[in-house]
Amino acid sequence: MVSYKELGLVNTREMFAKAIKGGYAIPAFNFNNMEQLQAIIKAAAEEKSPVILQVSKGARNYANATLLRYMAQGAVAYAKELGWENPQIVLHLDHGDSFELCKSCIDNGFSSVMIDGSHLPYEENVALTKQVVDYAHQYDVTVEGELGVLAGVEDEVSADHHTYTDPEEVIDFATRTGCDSLAISIGTSHGAYKFTPEQCTRDPKTGLLVPPPLAFEVLDAVMEKLPGFPIVLHGSSSVPQEYVKTINELGGKLPDAIGIPEEELRKAAKSAVCKINIDSDSRLAMTAAIRKVFHDKPGEFDPRKYLGPARDEMERLYKHKIENVLGSNGKAE
Ligand code: G3H
Ligand code: 13P
Ligand code: ZN
Repeated sequence: MVSYKELGLVNTREMFAKAIKGGYAIPAFNFNNMEQLQAIIKAAAEEKSPVILQVSKGARNYANATLLRYMAQGAVAYAKELGWENPQIVLHLDHGDSFELCKSCIDNGFSSVMIDGSHLPYEENVALTKQVVDYAHQYDVTVEGELGVLAGVEDEVSADHHTYTDPEEVIDFATRTGCDSLAISIGTSHGAYKFTPEQCTRDPKTGLLVPPPLAFEVLDAVMEKLPGFPIVLHGSSSVPQEYVKTINELGGKLPDAIGIPEEELRKAAKSAVCKINIDSDSRLAMTAAIRKVFHDKPGEFDPRKYLGPARDEMERLYKHKIENVLGSNGKAE
């Protein structure tokens, strides 16, 4: 058993309570490799922002679970080296799909886990989430549950097949499971294609697609049922059009990629939404930067010469999110 406390990590409890009170949200950035982790930690350390390092099952399989744990431990030391005296860093399992996976993460240094039973029938979701909570809380690890289904390219279903969270279920779910935070569905989805062009309108001036608004009425109803309870938004990448343009102009193919407008995320961050998940934007930043090097310098083959600029671009992106979207800068001095 490796306790996250020995690794210098923290759970989400205090962090979320402060974020709700302060009207900001904590960034939850996914990482799969060293460059992403370096960029996240540099951005968080310089911004003095609490941060959640998110690891998916896919990331664990890609990078190796043991290595990831040591990387998170190294991240705490790196943050201190960068002058962040009291780093507030969470290591979180993203979309855990079984008790065994959650247990393995808890036993190996994670300070927070998500058990995603959102695709299960309600009672099965309750039972599985409670099983994870009962185990996690023995070790002071916090647990995120999910109610309502997000659509996304990963599921090969279109964005209009999602089911918004039913506000009538949230009190029962939170009470019976004992979960520490709740991911809800209000119209976001995973990946770089969050809406079909048919669901959008077109801005006559720019010609760009304008997505339909998020269902803030569902968020409001959830907050009314569970005042002060930490709410999580998945699928919150904005899919910056400058990255999409660069990628498409330099040999890529991301037609009609579209995300959540930052304005809507800013609004959400001021509410009980205290964790905002961003993965795709970092993938786009990395891909655009690498494509640019390959285009401008076709003779380049030293990975540091293209992964370095990719890392710099991700750091810029993370800082922008922290300062201009989530408002978490300066909250972990
Ligand atoms: O919600 C999904 C995250 O973006 C992680 O994606 O399963 O491809 O690592 P992944
Ligand atoms: P995006 O695909 O919008 O970045 O969402 C990431 C996410 O929700 C990870 O759990
Ligand atoms: Zn997600």
